[in-house]
Amino acid sequence: MRYTLKSSRSQQSLGNLVSKKEDDAVSHNRVLIFDTTLRDGEQSPGASMTKDEKLRIAKALEKLQVDIIEAGFAIASPGDFEAVKAIADGIQNSIVCSLSRAVDADIDRAAEALANANAGRIHTFIATSPIHMQHKLRLQPDQVMDQAVRAIRRARNLCADVEFSCEDAGRSDIDFLCRIIEAAIDAGASTINIPDTVGYAIPHQFGEMIRLVIERVPNADKAVFSVHCHNDLGLAVANSLAAVAAGARQVECTINGLGERAGNAALEEIVMAIKTRQDVLGVHTGILTENILGASRLVSGITGFPVQPNKAIVGANAFAHESGIHQDGVLKHRETYEIMSAQSVGWHTNRLSLGKLSGRSAFRSRLDELGIELPGEAELNLAFARFKELADKKQEIFDEDLQALVSDTLTDVIEHVKLVFLDVASRTGETPEARIVLSIDGEERQASAQGSGPVDATFRAIEKVSPSDSTLQLYSVNAITKGTDSQGEVTVRLEKGGRIVNGNGADTDIVVASAKAYINALNLMQTGAYRAHPQAVGV
Ligand code: KIV
Ligand code: ZN
Repeated sequence: MRYTLKSSRSQQSLGNLVSKKEDDAVSHNRVLIFDTTLRDGEQSPGASMTKDEKLRIAKALEKLQVDIIEAGFAIASPGDFEAVKAIADGIQNSIVCSLSRAVDADIDRAAEALANANAGRIHTFIATSPIHMQHKLRLQPDQVMDQAVRAIRRARNLCADVEFSCEDAGRSDIDFLCRIIEAAIDAGASTINIPDTVGYAIPHQFGEMIRLVIERVPNADKAVFSVHCHNDLGLAVANSLAAVAAGARQVECTINGLGERAGNAALEEIVMAIKTRQDVLGVHTGILTENILGASRLVSGITGFPVQPNKAIVGANAFAHESGIHQDGVLKHRETYEIMSAQSVGWHTNRLSLGKLSGRSAFRSRLDELGIELPGEAELNLAFARFKELADKKQEIFDEDLQALVSDTLTDVIEHVKLVFLDVASRTGETPEARIVLSIDGEERQASAQGSGPVDATFRAIEKVSPSDSTLQLYSVNAITKGTDSQGEVTVRLEKGGRIVNGNGADTDIVVASAKAYINALNLMQTGAYRAHPQAVGV
């Protein structure tokens, strides 16, 4: 069976970029942002996401105006296939891409998942370094080249937009790299990606390598050159920018730098470096930077990977000035110590947004201002009811509270297990004890348990009522806003038979937030909304 993609937009946009006729300053200086949070990002151990979560992130990426969204690796599992398909079906304004090895079955499966995409791309790859070809593929360089060319031709028959990656290009022989890239472009690849798969490159050396490849490949003008850098030496962003300076016009990156091992280049850092230092780099992206923080929070909330406070752009302290001299300078003239404005990446002034007496329309209009869209009236009503409950407990409701609350409301999980009542006793010198009542498919059941702390006791009590036979892999709690009346946002990661789920919960009482997160994880497991780790597919 053949699946022909619509692909009109990707054909046009990429066509414009590579066309000599369109070789004007604008197209030449535009760096395409290819986001791989949903594919390489998800390969972070423990960062796997459900289809619904992926779709929510894809929508946030579309709002960010990311050029290409790598939605997954369609052949990896039925869950991956469904997620790529749902994103291809639901995204209109970004190109949606699926990864595939350079083998027929992968390429066909990618095309099938992308069949309804407004603009689809097949991304096929094969390793080109001596160490990978010899030990992993057990192929001679010419065999690798033949396999790559065959795969690209097959992909081109199914999709107008094909990207080819030379895996481990960073450790590949440059002459072989140039030969295989020339053949790949002749076979129909319109984007050539040069990954530093193992994070081995050093900026000036990687930049020089990109410059040499573009210079030596005779048909280089017929493709967009891309880079994909891993962060093993903490150099992913620096290497990507060196490549841009040398002529790369697509950067592959992830929100918050999520990704295999030490992660990928962080989208927010790449984009803001390009924007802030346009004087040096002379290029621009199409990213709507005001939406960066929202996307970062969404990814962090869904994956349970907190953002470190001193993380560039999206860390809580990224725009905080502690020293008196700095504070004085910023008050007199912001640019004394700030190279970009907090607002330009989505930080608001953390202002009090709503209170206990605020009505439904004020609530709705604040959500609008924050760019939060709820699917319908039912979700708005539910979110508003939760807001009222929260306003009873917490005097000041900040934007971050609203974001967490809406995130809870949108969690599209059937609640087999619900929290009815929780009573926790924790005193100095005594063993903490929790008594819990849960509703399991409508029937109330209760249990008590002791633990080393109140959260441990609560989790044990939940397990007595609703045994899951799972292992707790991660428990993390973060204050959503400042102040001791802040809501705590808890992530609980459970693993069972190689399958992983991340449950989230928020409440001003962190033990209640913990119970909610644990119960959310149990519900995710029961509804089958979990998936095997993508690495299980092997290469
Ligand atoms: O790191 C890498 O080489 C990859 C490729 C599949 C692009 O993720
Ligand atoms: Zn990678």
